Amino acid sequence: MKKYERAKYGAAAFAGAKGKLPNSFPREMGPSCLKYLQEVVDSGLTCDMVTRFEKAFAKELGVNHCIATPGCTPALACLASAFGFRSGDEIIVSPITDFGMIQGLIREDLIPVFADTEPGSINISAGTIEPCISRRTRAILVVHKTGLVCDMDPINALARKHKLIVYEDVCQAAFSEYKGRFAGTLSKAAGFSFDMEKTMGSDIGGCVATDDSKLAERVRLFGQSRGGVIVPGYGRKHVAPGYAYRMSNCTAAICLGQLEIVKSQVKRRDKMARLLTSLISKIPGIIPLRIPQYQNVYSCWMFGFRIDPKMIRCGADRFAEQLKKEGITGAGTGRYYLMPEACEFLDENARKRVYPYSTPPASRKYRYSARTCPNARDFLKYFVRWITFSDKYTPKHCELAADIIRKTAKRNTN
Ligand SMILES: Cc1ncc(COP(=O)(O)O)c(C=O)c1O
Repeated sequence: MKKYERAKYGAAAFAGAKGKLPNSFPREMGPSCLKYLQEVVDSGLTCDMVTRFEKAFAKELGVNHCIATPGCTPALACLASAFGFRSGDEIIVSPITDFGMIQGLIREDLIPVFADTEPGSINISAGTIEPCISRRTRAILVVHKTGLVCDMDPINALARKHKLIVYEDVCQAAFSEYKGRFAGTLSKAAGFSFDMEKTMGSDIGGCVATDDSKLAERVRLFGQSRGGVIVPGYGRKHVAPGYAYRMSNCTAAICLGQLEIVKSQVKRRDKMARLLTSLISKIPGIIPLRIPQYQNVYSCWMFGFRIDPKMIRCGADRFAEQLKKEGITGAGTGRYYLMPEACEFLDENARKRVYPYSTPPASRKYRYSARTCPNARDFLKYFVRWITFSDKYTPKHCELAADIIRKTAKRNTN
């Protein structure tokens, strides 16, 4: 095996991040966090903090069910298994995302079909999804990237027309609002992440949210009870090869503590992201992410913009490097978010016609590369971002960031 460096996650990925702007770590934990953790310890592990958190989160989001998991990757894996898809079914997904969004699909022998992004946008739309629909399509899984919510009404209308399930990856958009409704309540179900670097972060964690009681029960059975049911006089029998994706009580204690402070943090993120967006929109050569009219709250997890290659002669990598040097903590690029390219094994398996890319069940030839989603590829080529953006930002920090971006743009302008 070739020598490699393993990917890092959470606070470890931020270790050593220096600059003039706040780092999201150490996090504010919430005034009750320790009390809830103490309860778990004092009870000798008999207190059910997980159920308490599930009920509290469902209430805050305004859904009937929250099922706590160890992360969003397992939450979406639980859903992939609970929906009752069949091997070889196609699920339309966003191409600019995290691997956690598609891992469950692959493990369930489903075929991810990447819709391209809307030109100039980081998200997919009904218009880019429609050409991907085939007779094998069963669902559309959208991600609200950086916290910007996809235009869900046309996506849901398209899905109704073709009898498809829609569900959401809300990892980067906790408590963002679309037309007055929270992201994660705009479709059949949603996966959330409470990973330590996320807007509402625990040490690790996530959940499924849904209004559908039958689906919620299937998530618990297939996703958490390993498909095990009690047969009287016998014991456990397994009706499916399910998972054991359960959240721990200690994680639930931290999540409960975080839930009490997240909405006020999101308000600050929204205000500061809008301020910074308006400041940089005046800089020649800088193209901010567009915050749609329909989005009343932008729970911005990651701040980003594009550079205009016609005006700025250095590439995104060098631009980000210079921002970092000037003090924008964690500035970098994001070409690795392009899943059809980053998941090398997908194209390899599709070309080798490994199951489920063999025929049957596959309906056609599948190819995965940057070329298959040119809008997304071009978007990311000029995209600069930092995930250290957080509720710690003040107007002064936004002005400082805009100042650094302005100077860097000027230095590199043709
Ligand atoms: C869009 C998206 N989906 C899924 C995940 C995976 O979440 P988790 O780390 O909780 O499994 C992430 C995490 O970065 C993400 O950003």
